[in-house]
Amino acid sequence: MAEEQANGNGAANSILNGAAEKAVPPCLMTIFGASGDLTKRLLLPSIYNLAAIHDLPDAFRLLGFAMEEWTDEFFRDYVGQQLKQFWGADADASVIDWLQKRTFYQKGNFGEDAAFDGLKARIEALEKEQEGEGNRLFYLAVAPSFIAPIAAQLSRTTIICEDGSCWRRLIIEKPFGHDLESAIALNHDLQSSLKENQIYRIDHFAGKDAVQDLAVFRFSNTIIEPLWNRGLIDNVQITAAEVVGVEGRAGYYEKSGATRDMVPNHMCELLSLVAMEPPVSFTAEHMRDKQVDLLASARKIKVSEVDKYAVRGQYGAGSINGQSVAGYRQDKGVDPNSNTETYMAMRVDIDNWRWSGVPFYLRTGKRLARQQTEIRVIFRQPPARLFPNRKESNRAPNTLLFNLQPTQEIRLSFGAKAPGMTTLVDHESMDFKFPAGQFGDHGKGYERLLHDCMIGNTILFQRAEFVEQGWSLVEPLLEAWENAPAADPFPNYAAGSAGPKAADDLLAREGHAWQGLADEADD
Ligand code: BG6
Repeated sequence: MAEEQANGNGAANSILNGAAEKAVPPCLMTIFGASGDLTKRLLLPSIYNLAAIHDLPDAFRLLGFAMEEWTDEFFRDYVGQQLKQFWGADADASVIDWLQKRTFYQKGNFGEDAAFDGLKARIEALEKEQEGEGNRLFYLAVAPSFIAPIAAQLSRTTIICEDGSCWRRLIIEKPFGHDLESAIALNHDLQSSLKENQIYRIDHFAGKDAVQDLAVFRFSNTIIEPLWNRGLIDNVQITAAEVVGVEGRAGYYEKSGATRDMVPNHMCELLSLVAMEPPVSFTAEHMRDKQVDLLASARKIKVSEVDKYAVRGQYGAGSINGQSVAGYRQDKGVDPNSNTETYMAMRVDIDNWRWSGVPFYLRTGKRLARQQTEIRVIFRQPPARLFPNRKESNRAPNTLLFNLQPTQEIRLSFGAKAPGMTTLVDHESMDFKFPAGQFGDHGKGYERLLHDCMIGNTILFQRAEFVEQGWSLVEPLLEAWENAPAADPFPNYAAGSAGPKAADDLLAREGHAWQGLADEADD
């Protein structure tokens, strides 16, 4: 790639970035945890993708920071190798070369003052070589326990202090705390070193086009809003079902479980987008105000009520796509008596004028029948039934399905006359499939988030109150489940199934049923 082409300014930038109109300014991105998993699997390929569409400016610099005794040269080779493995063997050599020329490495121990003094000197030296620099992005791809100490060091050394003309920003990965108390403490620690607008709490779900579309679909169409309330909607089901297990992350997952791993962050992101009030404008302040308001309206149940509102599960041995799969307790690094949930489902009530009485059912789990992240908005049945259905199973209500992954589509289902001499109803649907994303199969979902951080757009990042509201929602569950084993002993669902029976019972008690995971034909 020619140097001038790789320069992120100019026409290509504005066309390719669509709504993101601002160009990325010169900046230096430091990754803490540069030798780790997240960096090689997601961050480097995403940075590559941004470079490939000329989104990054010529004066972009990447500085890896980790404990390994590596040199600049070694890290450049490492970046090239990881890109070939995690972006793809056909990665464009000229893009890799462009990136490698801008890549540096600094060794350091996160616990040592000297490491941060060295980092400061290195950053200043790199910036001296580069005219017009001073903007800094720090990406913490590190274990949660390092977040507050690193932020404190960045503040002590003043590397992260903004000095008028330059911005200094910090991206933090989930998990953001371990529970409500630790999340509040972490927010407090961070806010004592940084201004809130320097803190970018990332949720990679928000980077997905189909997730961003939830707001666009709702608020760029007139026909949706009049339907979007308790008058017409019966229940909403939000599912994040995974086929994968814990993928070698037992150390983390044993302490986290499905609830902490998915609900306060990803599931709350989806919940807030599907149920929030229209924002005053599509700006970070207004959008995030409404997302926080929505979570604040979600009823916080009592610990003693948890069994009424939530269930948990853990997978046992089973089979997925014809392959035998071991149970969670047999996974490497998992306690053979583990009480950690790999599945959870809960009913959330939104106590506001729009949603009062409409249950929002959330479920997420590992080793389920298939990968399926979706939101189903299920409408009420017509007040009178005029026509018989051709098949009784066809008597489904109107449903608006947002398929978020693995396919991205919006599907509206409805009753239509079955052809023939009788007047019978069939259940049919209209479909919109999203066109392939800008990066095709190579997109990692971090591209837009990195870009937005570099241009100072916080709209897709979670504010402190959002994170705290998310934790408040699950706090009673965590407390109730901490030491008590589940009523139906673990394992209580087979790998490859749709989850524990208790999750079906949770809905059946209220005259509802999960849709979409157990029965392919639903789709
Ligand atoms: C991560 C969780 O945040 O999200 C993982 O830690 C989970 O356990 C993953 O598998 C799901 O993300 P995606 O984008 O693959 O659906």
